[in-house]
Order: sequence, then C-alpha cells, then structure tokens
Amino acid sequence: MDQTTNSYHEPVLVSACVEALAPAALGVIVDGTFGGGGHTRALLASYPHVTIIGIDRDPDALANVLDDVRVRTVLGNFSEMQRLANDELGASPDSSGTVDGVLLDLGISSHQVDTAERGFSYHRSGPVDMRMGSDVPSSAGELVNELDRGELRDLIRRYGEERYAGRISAAIVGARPIDNTADLAAVIADAVPAAARRSGHPARKTFQALRIATNAELDALSAGLEAAVDLLRPGGRLCVISYHSLEDRIVKRRIAAGAAECVCPPGLPVCVCARSPELRDLGRVRPSEVEIASNPRSRSAILRIAERLVA
Ligand SMILES: C[S@@+](CC[C@H](N)C(=O)[O-])C[C@H]1O[C@@H](n2cnc3c(N)ncnc32)[C@H](O)[C@@H]1O
Repeated sequence: MDQTTNSYHEPVLVSACVEALAPAALGVIVDGTFGGGGHTRALLASYPHVTIIGIDRDPDALANVLDDVRVRTVLGNFSEMQRLANDELGASPDSSGTVDGVLLDLGISSHQVDTAERGFSYHRSGPVDMRMGSDVPSSAGELVNELDRGELRDLIRRYGEERYAGRISAAIVGARPIDNTADLAAVIADAVPAAARRSGHPARKTFQALRIATNAELDALSAGLEAAVDLLRPGGRLCVISYHSLEDRIVKRRIAAGAAECVCPPGLPVCVCARSPELRDLGRVRPSEVEIASNPRSRSAILRIAERLVA
C-alpha cells in the first residue's frame, strides 16, 4: 500500500486528534481503528518518540504496513483493546494505566465502502455481506433473508432511526431471496414514499442499520470505551470520532458518566457517594467547512475528547 497517499481512507479531524493526544507524545497510543493508518501516520509525524499500537478487525486494514519501528499492528476487536494492548506491552492482560492515549475513529473506511464485494455500498452491487472482519459470524444477508418481518422492522428502526422501517421490512420480506446490494437498495427505494427519496439515498439508514447489527458495533463501542478508560493512565487522553447519533450518544454518555462528581440518588440533602470523577470532559470538535468541502465523508463527524483522572 502506498504510504504517501490516503487512497485507502482519507482521515478526518486529523489535526484536532493530534493536538488532543499531545500529552501522549512520549508514551503509548492505541489507535483502535487503524484503517488506512492515516491518523497513525499523522501522530508519528508529529511525535517522534511515540509508540503506537494499531488495532483493526479487518485484515485488509492490516495490509497497510507502515515501515516504522514505532508502530505495531494487531488484528482484533477494539472491544478487547485492554488485553490486546497489554499483550503488546508485555503487561498482564487486565493491567490498568498502561497507555497514554486512545483513539477510536468509528465506522467503516472508504476502502470497505468502495469495495463492492464487501457489500457495504448501496451504490455498487455486491453480495449482502457487510462483515467488517472474519470474526463476525453471520452476514447482513442472513438478517435480510431470515429475520421475520417484525424483527427486521425493529432492527431498521433501532439502528437506522428509519421512520419507514415498517414499509421497508414488509417490502424486503416480499422480495426474498435478496442476493445483492443493488437489488436490496432498489427494494428499499421502491418502499419509501417519493418525498423521502429526495433527501439523501433512501437506502442509507437501512444499510446503516444492517451494518451496525451485523457487526454488533454498538456493543463493541460500549465495551471499547470501558477498556479505554481502564487502559489510560491518569492524564492520558481519549479521542473518539463518531459519525451518527447512535454512536455519539454512547460516547457522550460514557464521558458524562465518567466526569460526574456525584452519583447519589436525586433528593439526598448532601452528597454521600464521595465519588472522584474518572474523566474530565474536554469537549467536542466538528470539521470545518473547508474540511467538509474537501472530504464530504467528514460531514457528520464529531470528535469527543476526555482526559483520564485519578479515580
Ligand atoms: C473510519 S475507519 C478508520 C480510518 C483510520 N482512522 C485512518 O486514518 O485510515 C474505521 C476502521 O475501524 C475498523 N473497526 C470498526 N469497528 C472496529 C472494532 N470494533 N474493532 C476493531 N476495528 C474496528 C474498521 O474495520 C475500519 O478499518
């Protein structure tokens, strides 16, 4: 893979991530979503003494070899980053406070979307697959062709926040078997009212829902955030880039829960929990208009940053 271009994936909010991870410049950063290595390359360029552990569940991503002794790459799910990172560091699997920064750039890479055979795209025809890695047991095609109508409706509503989930699930069930993404996209487009076809691609939310469910993405995110908080030493930084409200809500709530100074039940006259917050919320960053113009996939990105405190 050519290391001088971002043909695999154009990274988002790079300067903001590099700046937020400055306190980790002399230590270890876990890039839990290595992808094309764009964020990792920027960190290496800015911080000569950093060590990076790059994790991705997709073997295609790990073919992006960076010829740099400061980087180690690992195939795996970031939900298991505590064990994976500690293994690389020679620490026991559940050690805490062993890294200085964690970066998660959620979702899928351009390479994954643009490779028709992976089945993520409603613009290209391929098998209805959507598995991010070989650890994912069943494909989206199994959900599309095997769930009953109610289960499919609930999945599309829950993970796609799609208001036409009922119509779409009925149309999918009526069109089975559906073997490729072009047919699936056409069935969805025919199922929604004409007005809904004018605001973005009518299959976007359903494809998002199928992808999230296939890869258990939200469970991985919740587990990954817990692992990240455990792994970070006091003063270490957590950076998470989300691309839709379901992801961002989980990140926002986890940071808010970690930053809460009191967890007493409401109504108590005085605080009895004596809690020390484990995180400091350092706010959020959105891409500039300039970045959105040059990289439209950054449009929905939100970077949230937190600092690990002594708990
Ligand atoms: C948006 S891309 C990251 C791009 C990367 N920051 C770059 O600069 O090229 C997301 C990557 O995260 C990976 N990924 C998503 N969920 C994952 C998980 N739970 N565990 C490990 N990797 C994951 C995907 O396979 C994909 O390669």
